[in-house]
Amino acid sequence: MRNDKRRARRLADCNNITDLRSVAKRKLPWPIFNYMDGGADDEIALRRSTSAFDDYELLPTHLSDISNIDLKTTVLGQDIDWPVFLAPTGASRLFHHDKEPAVARAAHKFGTIYSLSTLATTTIEDVAAASAGPKMYQVYVFKDRGITRDFVQRCKSSNYDALCLTVDTQVAGNRERDLVTGFGVPPKLKLRSVLSYIRHFPWTIRAIVNGGFDMVNITSSPGVSTEINEGVMAYVNSQFDRTLGWKDVEWLASQWDGPLVIKGIQTVADARKAVDSGATAVMLSNHGGRQLESAPAPVDCIAPIADALRDKIEIICDGGVRRGNHVVKALALGANACSIGRGYLFGLAAGGQQGVEHALEMLRSEVDRTMALMGCNSIKKLSNEYIRKN
Ligand code: FNR
Ligand code: LAC
Repeated sequence: MRNDKRRARRLADCNNITDLRSVAKRKLPWPIFNYMDGGADDEIALRRSTSAFDDYELLPTHLSDISNIDLKTTVLGQDIDWPVFLAPTGASRLFHHDKEPAVARAAHKFGTIYSLSTLATTTIEDVAAASAGPKMYQVYVFKDRGITRDFVQRCKSSNYDALCLTVDTQVAGNRERDLVTGFGVPPKLKLRSVLSYIRHFPWTIRAIVNGGFDMVNITSSPGVSTEINEGVMAYVNSQFDRTLGWKDVEWLASQWDGPLVIKGIQTVADARKAVDSGATAVMLSNHGGRQLESAPAPVDCIAPIADALRDKIEIICDGGVRRGNHVVKALALGANACSIGRGYLFGLAAGGQQGVEHALEMLRSEVDRTMALMGCNSIKKLSNEYIRKN
């Protein structure tokens, strides 16, 4: 009970996603926080993904009825309560012992989609058992295509609603913070990291006693070793298929008879190929600035792709979203919805399911308030009339 009260007080002091990030930074051992928070190389793409939203101004139209703001929309074949869903993130056990099921339950409570990563620490089946809410499974394609085929069958059996193919990570980005902190499996025991694991004793003792870090969707696939004794990114480099091509997207579309999302698209040409290959949506994304350094900010990719392919494919802005006004800007530029990663992970680290719910509550109320202040009472009315680049 005492812990619940302390967590409630901790969350009540958080007024925005950035406040949640500060709590996550306090709560997590140094290597773990930096794995989550960090990006590739000099983190230009990471910073630009958020700062690029500042380049846009919202144009209000006053004296219209804003007594009721309609945030509902349909995306990936799912009716959701507001135009934000949760992007796939690996290894949520690192950030809280309640891991992916807690996040999936929070997403369901807030009427939106949860995306489970191939590199998650909870199985496809266990997340389906934890939440009846809309779910998407994110696929990384391995050299062994049998693993991918197995994923698709398991998602069908567990009634997942959409499949997402991430195409920007066949090679791991250069996560230099992880080199500094020694993050990995097993972790390199650098003095500052050891001291941090000691200082974060509750996290560390639970990690030693309970574990739960296995990438169980992979280790539960036939033919894959149950022991993955290497770091997440080292594993990516050793197992993911660098020959992946658009023919594989067509193959995946033929295997999966539901909404198929291609995640990591950043150009009109690639978005067009996604349409031609049978995808139903694209997540305009630079993987949270964790892959190609100096990749464009996702928000800057929206307008050209919306102008060229609106109504031919759903457009998701994925990356850098920390405020409700970011969501409204993305939709005014032509996105159908946004997805968030760190925004909910900071909440998970700060307070488990309640922390994720707090993050979603703050973000949703910011979207609602921004719409009201703009004099726009439905996200369906958003257009480029409401936005300009400054
Ligand atoms: C990710 N992301 C990611 N993407 C993916 O397709 N599969 C994955 O397993 C992961 N894992 C992952 C772990 C962590 C710790 C982070 C921060 C991100 C990328 C994620 O889906 C999303 O694209 C970005 O997080 C979006 O940027 P923001 O919202 O974090 O700024
Ligand atoms: C990452 C991988 C897991 O960004 O997608 O860390």
